Amino acid sequence: MAHKASAAVPVKGSKLMVIGGASLVGSATVDEMLARGAEQVIIFDNLSFGGQPNIAHLEGNPKVKVVQGDILKLHQLLAATEGVDAIVHLAAYMTLNFDRDPWGGIDVNVRGVQNVLEACRSNKVKKLVFSSSNAVYGYGPGVKGDLVEGVPFHSEGAPPAAILYGASKIMGEQLCRDAFRKHGQDYVVLRFSTVYGERQHYRAANALYIVETHDAIKRGERPKVIGDGSETKHFVYVGDLARACCMAIEAPSTDVAVNTSGPEPITTLQLVNLVAELSGRPDLQAELVEPDPTKVRLTSGGAFEIVHKAAKDAIGWEPQVTMREGLGRLLAWRDAEAKRNA
Ligand SMILES: NC(=O)c1ccc[n+]([C@@H]2O[C@H](COP(=O)([O-])OP(=O)(O)OC[C@H]3O[C@@H](n4cnc5c(N)ncnc54)[C@H](O)[C@@H]3O)[C@@H](O)[C@H]2O)c1
Repeated sequence: MAHKASAAVPVKGSKLMVIGGASLVGSATVDEMLARGAEQVIIFDNLSFGGQPNIAHLEGNPKVKVVQGDILKLHQLLAATEGVDAIVHLAAYMTLNFDRDPWGGIDVNVRGVQNVLEACRSNKVKKLVFSSSNAVYGYGPGVKGDLVEGVPFHSEGAPPAAILYGASKIMGEQLCRDAFRKHGQDYVVLRFSTVYGERQHYRAANALYIVETHDAIKRGERPKVIGDGSETKHFVYVGDLARACCMAIEAPSTDVAVNTSGPEPITTLQLVNLVAELSGRPDLQAELVEPDPTKVRLTSGGAFEIVHKAAKDAIGWEPQVTMREGLGRLLAWRDAEAKRNA
């Protein structure tokens, strides 16, 4: 497919900003930008999710500037984006946060994106990379098969928080398209699948299958799998996404949205048993349990795969890290953190 040409911004030697830079994906993206020779990386984050430890290792780095700011305060964004060549915008509420505070999520995920776009326009930022999600395909019985970029949004039979989150990402994407049409703002949308990796948090519903399993195993308990364990999940390793963000800045493509998912999907039962194996307790096999009606679950209508072929065409990106390898890194990081905090 032919892609529209735009300003391709080299990471090396540029002044870049990561909004929501104290996040799981943001902290890895900042590391990747520095490794690729960025001149300066500004982390813009209000630190409201307690992300300070994620960026503690960058303290004292003369190429890194931390701005504690809020995307809902346009004047703060306008001041911080002066002279910035490209932005990766990651700050957002996900499903579990939407469940607790829907209005906060709508503000940050919709008005926040609009403010970021306004700051880009005002300060002539050449390229914006916006983190969307496979949540734009929705959840529930309608979601199955190959999820390619043209698949429509399914909302029937899914929890409201998941639908509000997916809808907010659709709005964010469309605000980017609108800015391209009206002001020629170059952008690439990356639709991340569920992220996992070092600095993993408890805010993503699907990644709980990893962290809660690891926690149970540490307590010597059998991990739990909801239902029969045949549900599909499709993860992507955080370092692969950090590469994708940098490649999207550098690619000549614009006005495009692509899936960025890992090498292949996995079932919840396979995942939980793999975490048990990699934790050295393959004897602690998963116990099948009934769903807890008070907890938000992200279900689909059957097996699915989030197809990432278009990302190869648009930005030259493919995932490199298998789940076995990435999970090994995540579990090693969690063990080291537990020791450090003991
Ligand atoms: N984690 C996943 O599984 C996943 C999957 C698909 C898409 N995504 C998307 O990727 C992005 C990054 O995800 P993550 O898990 O790394 O995020 P995260 O939850 O670790 O961090 C989000 C960051 O945004 C910041 N933030 C929140 N509100 C803000 C505001 N008003 N102003 C400034 N900063 C604010 C928080 O302090 C936090 O550091 C998000 O846009 C998310 O929707 C994530």
